[in-house]
Amino acid sequence: MFKEKFSEGIISAKQFNREDIEYILKQGRKMIRVKNSHILNGKILATLFFEPSTRTRLSFESAMYRLGGNVIGFHSADVSSFKKGESIADTIRTVQNYSDCIVMRNPLEGAAILASRFANIPIINAGSGSGEHPTQALLDLLTIKEECGTIDGLNIGIVGDLKYGRTAHSLSLLLSNFEVNIYFISPRELSLRNRYKAYLQERKIKYKEITRYRNILDILDVLYMTRIQKERFVDQEEYEKVKSAYVFNEEDLEKTKENFKLMHPLPRITEIHPNVDTYSDKAIYFKQTGYGLALRKAILAELMID
Ligand code: CP
Repeated sequence: MFKEKFSEGIISAKQFNREDIEYILKQGRKMIRVKNSHILNGKILATLFFEPSTRTRLSFESAMYRLGGNVIGFHSADVSSFKKGESIADTIRTVQNYSDCIVMRNPLEGAAILASRFANIPIINAGSGSGEHPTQALLDLLTIKEECGTIDGLNIGIVGDLKYGRTAHSLSLLLSNFEVNIYFISPRELSLRNRYKAYLQERKIKYKEITRYRNILDILDVLYMTRIQKERFVDQEEYEKVKSAYVFNEEDLEKTKENFKLMHPLPRITEIHPNVDTYSDKAIYFKQTGYGLALRKAILAELMID
């Protein structure tokens, strides 16, 4: 059923209803225990990264190898024929002949949807400009479910660059399937775009927009920090003004609940002080990267097993 519904791939978090999320989290949970397997023997994944990545690309590639498959791809626009002027459509119509599934990251917000229109194999959106990053949000939910035991009933803060941050967008959309209280915390100029707020309002999700998190640390179950997206700013002076808006430190951690969890999609720049890393029961962002591998194994298996 998952394979049929997602036959064109995973483009947006909006494709997922609660049943889909629960199903893929269950499959992700099983994959935590699967180190190596041969279930994707003979399958080829293409990873087309027109923008830099450490976690997303390497976890998809590791997941593919761990499940017995193979990987082809490029990791910079500069080494593909995009550099010579080739379009996304022509790239996809070519690469689909060489692979069974395509994972693509591109700076254009509409790139993944465009790619899916030209593909006859699934496209996985691994980040489309300042639009979405749905598999990151799925792995974030797997992390919350595994570490908190539940998603429903939680008070969740999402902090940082909510205007350009694609992980925050996809996470907000997925959370609209749960009974949660969301606190969106950002400088006013980087607040969540209206289209995401409208979606949450339609689905009657309780949320608040604030500019500081320190006053609510004692009620939060999860704080999801994000970096200010330097590369999306047209005016670098505007970036300089907001780049240090938030720096989570040890003092902040002391104000949190016993079961509080601090998450981050990474990369981190300065928004979490490195001293916080040692509090591994609360600072779970590196553990989160491990859940990413399990979740991506589950997605690849679901989309590619015959
Ligand atoms: N979280 C995330 O997308 O990280 P990378 O940019 O390293 O892939």
